[in-house]
Amino acid sequence: MWTEILTVLFLIVCFVTSDFQCPELEKSTLCACKEVVWWDNENKTVVDCSSASLNSVPNLGMVSSAEITKILLNGNKLSRVNLDDFKNIFVRELDLSRNSLSQLEKEHILHLRKVLTHLNLKSNRFEVDKGLKFIEGFSVLVELILDSNLIGYDSNDSATLPDSIFKNLGLRSLRILSLRSCGINNIQSMAFEGLPSLEVLDLTYNYLEEIPSAILRLSNLKSLFVGGNSIFTIKNNSFVGMILEKLVLDYNEIYEIEANAFSGLESNLKKLEFHGNYIPNIPSSALRRLKNLTFLKISKNNIQKIDKDAFVGMQSLQMLELDNNAIKFDNQSFVSLSDSLDTLLLRDTRLTYFPANELAPLRRLQTLDLSFNRIGPIMDADVSKLNLRTLILTNNNISVISPRTFKNLKQPIELDLDNNVISDVSFVMRAQPCSFSYVDLIGNPLTCDCDLEFVLNSGIMSGIGLTGHCETIHGSQYELGSSSLTRSLNRLCNQTERIHWCQRYQGPSNVSMTTHQIHFILFILSFIICVVFS
Ligand SMILES: *[C@@H]1O[C@H](CO)[C@@H](O)[C@H](O)[C@H]1NC(C)=O
Ligand SMILES: *[C@@H]1O[C@H](CO)[C@@H](O)[C@H](O)[C@H]1NC(C)=O
Ligand SMILES: *[C@@H]1O[C@H](CO)[C@@H](O)[C@H](O)[C@H]1NC(C)=O
Ligand SMILES: *[C@@H]1O[C@H](CO)[C@@H](O)[C@H](O)[C@H]1NC(C)=O
Ligand SMILES: *[C@@H]1O[C@H](CO)[C@@H](O)[C@H](O)[C@H]1NC(C)=O
Ligand SMILES: *[C@@H]1O[C@H](CO)[C@@H](O)[C@H](O)[C@H]1NC(C)=O
Ligand SMILES: *[C@@H]1O[C@H](CO)[C@@H](O)[C@H](O)[C@H]1NC(C)=O
Repeated sequence: MWTEILTVLFLIVCFVTSDFQCPELEKSTLCACKEVVWWDNENKTVVDCSSASLNSVPNLGMVSSAEITKILLNGNKLSRVNLDDFKNIFVRELDLSRNSLSQLEKEHILHLRKVLTHLNLKSNRFEVDKGLKFIEGFSVLVELILDSNLIGYDSNDSATLPDSIFKNLGLRSLRILSLRSCGINNIQSMAFEGLPSLEVLDLTYNYLEEIPSAILRLSNLKSLFVGGNSIFTIKNNSFVGMILEKLVLDYNEIYEIEANAFSGLESNLKKLEFHGNYIPNIPSSALRRLKNLTFLKISKNNIQKIDKDAFVGMQSLQMLELDNNAIKFDNQSFVSLSDSLDTLLLRDTRLTYFPANELAPLRRLQTLDLSFNRIGPIMDADVSKLNLRTLILTNNNISVISPRTFKNLKQPIELDLDNNVISDVSFVMRAQPCSFSYVDLIGNPLTCDCDLEFVLNSGIMSGIGLTGHCETIHGSQYELGSSSLTRSLNRLCNQTERIHWCQRYQGPSNVSMTTHQIHFILFILSFIICVVFS
């Protein structure tokens, strides 16, 4: 699927026209001018001076049109912008990231006030706490990126984002503000005043020790990223009055989430991420009222046990990631999610067996990932209790799978068994015909034998079939599906006539090998066209 989408995007984006030129500029600098027809049929004119070893902004007067959509000046050595640099140039998107700028003069960019929508100042030397007067009146600015700039220490030796730095700047259209990696350890409560349209705030990789109360003033904020900080508790009412839909708290030091932490977000919050913290159990009392939560990631914490009512109240949860926790669970643990959950990730949770009974209550489960565990032979689990379309069991210790495991499947399953210790395919041969649409056996010590020949030639699998390698008793390796393997097996066994004619699998990943390949070739071609014509 992704190859098709990318192909289409590439073909549309890369329709480069040639009206917009700057031969003089291209001759005297490493800059390039191009015009790109975007998918909405809007033409973007781009002056690309990125990584061009520039000490100053080149003479943009050499460009054939004053209307430039985008100027890329990132990755140069600019330490200042002069009065004439953008004179008579009306640019909508300006990328000045990765330079040595510490200041922009208001007068030098005044004329961009009513046109500039995107400004990227990442990795410069702006002292953000000293104010951003130079963007005063930028009333159509939509995105402002200030990552990796400086915040000075205040009298308390704290890198504080002070009150009112955006107030009275008239940034009424600003929707996205990014302040990653600015060393912030404190945010005063009025710091975000004057940003009435802000929807996305990124505070990742700072030194915050709590959710800053300043966010409570952002009444339109939808996404908040506070990963990579030093927060240890999520306190009651941290988001009250907000309409957040997505909250990312990965890689903090959180061990406690108070019962009313998410008060006010009951019907808004849809995605919540806590990867890489120290949470000791599913914080049920805080989560139970999040009735519209669809995605919960609580991987890499200290969760050891999932109690009966752990997920009670989370009636919309579709995807749950519990990876990297040494958890124990039973047939009651997931009962609350039986009508909603379709994807469950339990990678690296120290499982030693296939938990078919424990997961059986999850009636809607379609995708289950149990990779990187210690699951051994699968002898008496009944996978058909689950309604799976995709089962991922890579990097376990599976040597044998009993054919009974898959005996009553209602639809063909995709099975990924990479890097186990399976030596024969009898579980496919003896299962009901058409039980499998795809079995990936890469990294298993398969033997090239007559069972394998039967599975490859009888048509017992629908869809793509088998992938992996096998080894003959003489030690020769063959790729499954290769013609050399066919020749080798023909010498060993009588060739099986095709006896099964499975319906083409009609699931979501209904792609046969050949269309896969065609899509891939199309993608590569469009990529080449793209590069050649850019
Ligand atoms: C974009 O460029 C193409 C080709 O140069 C031209 O035909 C088309 O009219 C332009 N569209 C706009 C909106 O300027
Ligand atoms: C310094 O800390 C004191 C006490 O916590 C506080 O009252 C004062 O406002 C702080 N000063 C600054 C500049 O933040
Ligand atoms: C948070 O709210 C819960 C539920 O109202 C309450 O029991 C708890 O004491 C509160 N925590 C704090 C630290 O106030
Ligand atoms: C929450 O879910 C309910 C149905 O479960 C839906 O009617 C409501 O619009 C949702 N709220 C939001 C803010 O999406
Ligand atoms: C759940 O497991 C217990 C024992 O572990 C068993 O008695 C009970 O019947 C099981 N419930 C279901 C619905 O399978
Ligand atoms: C894998 O399984 C074999 C027995 O089948 C056992 O001897 C071995 O210890 C297991 N390895 C691991 C890493 O669990
Ligand atoms: C191949 O078929 C012949 C005749 O039907 C039979 O005698 C022989 O045993 C078969 N060989 C194998 C390896 O199945």
